[in-house]
Amino acid sequence: MTRTIDLALVGGTGLYRFPGLEDAERHAVDTPYGHPSDSVVVGRVGAHRVAFLARHGESHTIPPHRVNYRANVWALHHLGARRVVGVNAVGGIRSDMGPRVLAVPDQIIDYTCDRLTSFCDVAGAEVRHIDFSEPYSATLRKALLDAARAAELAVVDGGCYGATQGPRLETRAEIARMKRDGCDLVGMTGMPEAALARELELDYACVALVANWAAGCGDEAEISLPEIFANLEAATAQVPVLVKALLAAG
Ligand code: HPA
Repeated sequence: MTRTIDLALVGGTGLYRFPGLEDAERHAVDTPYGHPSDSVVVGRVGAHRVAFLARHGESHTIPPHRVNYRANVWALHHLGARRVVGVNAVGGIRSDMGPRVLAVPDQIIDYTCDRLTSFCDVAGAEVRHIDFSEPYSATLRKALLDAARAAELAVVDGGCYGATQGPRLETRAEIARMKRDGCDLVGMTGMPEAALARELELDYACVALVANWAAGCGDEAEISLPEIFANLEAATAQVPVLVKALLAAG
């Protein structure tokens, strides 16, 4: 497939399809790394070609630690995507990262384990050590922040995304440690997606949707799942507005 894709989106929990994708076609991509989480849906938003992939599958059957991140990233690249926005549900740690906030983080600390984290992780593959000092594309982050401003959406600029293994939520002590480490947000799916995107030289950035206060950061003794889903629904509703503004800017 050689036709360019202007933007690819990887939808996280709560975002299983992209509303307003016209003339959509489904691509079941077979990759050297196995199957992606679902078919990649490619369609138009106005004059722009947009690809969408549900990270957990469209029926949310794949937990964070079982997502085939390599197949997902490879499939988007194979279909012609060069700009990828990962949408990730997160817990908020920093005081200005409360439920329903949208953030475009600028750093990552990876606490995941036992995931396949590199395209090098195949017998005979060339070993590459990518620069990951700045894990997200500065250009795409700026474009997202400019788009948010143009669409009059409140988005927090920056923050450190702590990626945990899941699928369970964290203990208070784990979050206290992550806070000491400098994490502002916690999620289970930000890595290795970002690193794999860098290996394929994709422009990649994250839009983090805060679903709840991380353990011990809010007033509640426990994190309530119905609240997570209500907050995510409210935050997710802003994503198409942001994406349309991003596309409109070119
Ligand atoms: N922790 C990890 N991942 C998450 C959380 C959380 O509190 N909320 C949504 N995704």
